[in-house]
Amino acid sequence: MIIGIDIGSTITKAVSVEDGKMIRRIKTRAADAVTSAAGALGKMILENDIPMGDIERIMITGAGATKIKTDLFGIPTEPVDEITAIGIGGMFLSKQDTIIITNIGTGTAIIEAKGSSISHLGGSGVGGGTILGLAKKLLPTAHFNGIMDLAKSGNLNQVDLLLEDIMETDLSFLNKEATASNFGKMLDTARYEDLAMGILNLVYQVIGIISVFAAKSKNLDRVVVTGNGSKNPLGRHILSTITGVYAVAFEYPQYAEYTTAIGAGLSSPRRP
Ligand SMILES: Nc1ncnc2c1ncn2[C@@H]1O[C@H](COP(=O)(O)OP(=O)(O)OP(=O)(O)O)[C@@H](O)[C@H]1O
Ligand SMILES: [Mg+2]
Repeated sequence: MIIGIDIGSTITKAVSVEDGKMIRRIKTRAADAVTSAAGALGKMILENDIPMGDIERIMITGAGATKIKTDLFGIPTEPVDEITAIGIGGMFLSKQDTIIITNIGTGTAIIEAKGSSISHLGGSGVGGGTILGLAKKLLPTAHFNGIMDLAKSGNLNQVDLLLEDIMETDLSFLNKEATASNFGKMLDTARYEDLAMGILNLVYQVIGIISVFAAKSKNLDRVVVTGNGSKNPLGRHILSTITGVYAVAFEYPQYAEYTTAIGAGLSSPRRP
């Protein structure tokens, strides 16, 4: 059995891989990378009753991976490049071998995977961390579920400047409900619900548009979305409106929040 661990900037994920299949998954969160890695391994072992001797190797990736410089508890431990891990995990979960992957984590990375050729196209610092950070100062809650509850009944018209606010006609292929400027209106009557929705709209519109440009630059009309940000129902709705305008589809594989950990677990070790 191989354990893939992804020490993300916010959340640590771990999966067990046997015979090229993902068997078990856990998530955890700790203040530092070493505690995260040790905690993720401990949680995986204890919750699933895995004998230590069954673990052949630990493959470790994510923002915090370079902090792990030795084998964990005597088990051979190898680093995996995060972009490679996202590419391998994205191809595995989407069951496709030529894809654009938009990984929405704390920030956002866009990766092109074509079999063994995996490259980093770019990305944006706008991501899940932007939602939590803006919520901290703009909303009465910075807890993920609280932000989502507020946003559900938010009205974008209170915070975003729409094309219909400034123009009488459609603008080329954009209809009058399209956003002209995120947060560009901000009425005095804007409620917390409206601000929460405005934050989500800002984040997912930016991610959606850069994903569309990445896909179009590679002559593709699909994007595989991964990371915890792919699980956000309001985010998915915003991305679907982008599909309506730009004809690029967003796909959400099951277990997409574990993509990076799975890709690490499926990576060949550097040393035999
Ligand atoms: N239950 C939750 N608690 C906290 N954040 C959540 C939760 N569910 C989704 N999120 C969102 O997911 C984001 C983290 O996503 P993810 O775990 O994929 O990132 P990461 O791997 O830690 O970061 P990165 O890949 O950018 O280094 C948070 O910023 C937050 O917006
Ligand atoms: Mg991540």
